[in-house]
Amino acid sequence: MDKKIDQNKIPRRVLSSGEEIPCVGLGTFGSDKYGADTVSEAVYGAIKYGYRLIDCAAVYQNEAQIGAVLQRVFSEGIVERKELFITSKVWNDMHGAGKVEESCRKSLSDLGLDYLDLYFVHWPFPNYHAPGCDGDSRNPDSRPFSLEEFMATWRQCEDLVEKGLVRYIGMSNMTIPKLEAILPLCRIKPAALEMELHPSFQQPELFAYAKEHDILPIGYCPIGSPSRPERDRSSEDVADTQLPAVLAAASAHQVHPAVICLKWAVQRGQVPIPFSVKEPQYISNLECAVSDPLTEEEMAAIEGEDRNCRLIKGQVFLWEGAKSWEDLWDLDGRIVSL
Ligand SMILES: NC(=O)c1ccc[n+]([C@@H]2O[C@H](COP(=O)([O-])OP(=O)(O)OC[C@H]3O[C@@H](n4cnc5c(N)ncnc54)[C@H](OP(=O)(O)O)[C@@H]3O)[C@@H](O)[C@H]2O)c1
Repeated sequence: MDKKIDQNKIPRRVLSSGEEIPCVGLGTFGSDKYGADTVSEAVYGAIKYGYRLIDCAAVYQNEAQIGAVLQRVFSEGIVERKELFITSKVWNDMHGAGKVEESCRKSLSDLGLDYLDLYFVHWPFPNYHAPGCDGDSRNPDSRPFSLEEFMATWRQCEDLVEKGLVRYIGMSNMTIPKLEAILPLCRIKPAALEMELHPSFQQPELFAYAKEHDILPIGYCPIGSPSRPERDRSSEDVADTQLPAVLAAASAHQVHPAVICLKWAVQRGQVPIPFSVKEPQYISNLECAVSDPLTEEEMAAIEGEDRNCRLIKGQVFLWEGAKSWEDLWDLDGRIVSL
């Protein structure tokens, strides 16, 4: 593929440090459907086309293959390390004392890097599920969020910044009640919050909270994750690509509804990290940020499609005695504990 996007045209988002990052990144979770070689080949093509932000995680089980591809893009002179913004995440089974650095070093070694740009705490509790498990899977050691436990994990992340292993740290799958408790205790504030964001699940309160606190919202499942694993599907789920306002805009702009979801995300101000292993898809997913924006009316119509439809409910992380997945998300405004 020789097609390349003009980097100067890609809008930027600003971190609280003043550093700018691209307004769209590439997701790398194969959803138990796409293997590590397929995903990493897409990372190669995507960087060649012009992606500079790549969202990785240890639990996606493909960092070693992505690392090989990163070495390839460096050795072929396609990009230099400093032009990329690479994220990774500590998985739930590595929150314990000393484990966060071990996990970070493993991701660094797999990715063939000597620093990460941003390192997330993937979920705010140590509840573990085996990769590829089904929705009814429960781990007997699972427990509710504990501020003390979380802060012990966060302190280890802060240490990683101080040791120069990571440049920024972030949190994922957070709620406002948890952030209200955590933020005053941080020595280093999160630079970004990775959260589920798509037209049918806009999380307006959490989105505004992040902005008010100068924390960049990074939106996962920006297309509504049509290929997500079975364990993350339920009969009430809404398909974002079928929403009337998304379909109307797709018809007006002559693009796939997925591309409309991304245009909306970029114009709203979050950083979407769409996943795709298909070249025409990942090309249009970045290209959409530089041309043919949605009108104010289209933006407003899509804002009106919010159905509070959370797709990644996290039910596999529930503990003994929890009522339902809602317990993970502090829906009545306070942290749910036992
Ligand atoms: N922090 C967290 O807890 C968390 C949780 C979930 C995800 N994430 C991150 O967010 C990333 C994105 O989320 P996701 O992968 O679940 O969902 P997504 O990006 O919303 O959906 C990806 C799927 O959408 C389809 N698609 C992509 N571009 C398209 C286009 N231009 N036209 C038509 N269809 C298109 C593809 O389906 P087909 O393959 O069927 O064509 C692709 O597999 C992940 O890869 C991961 O990096 C983070």
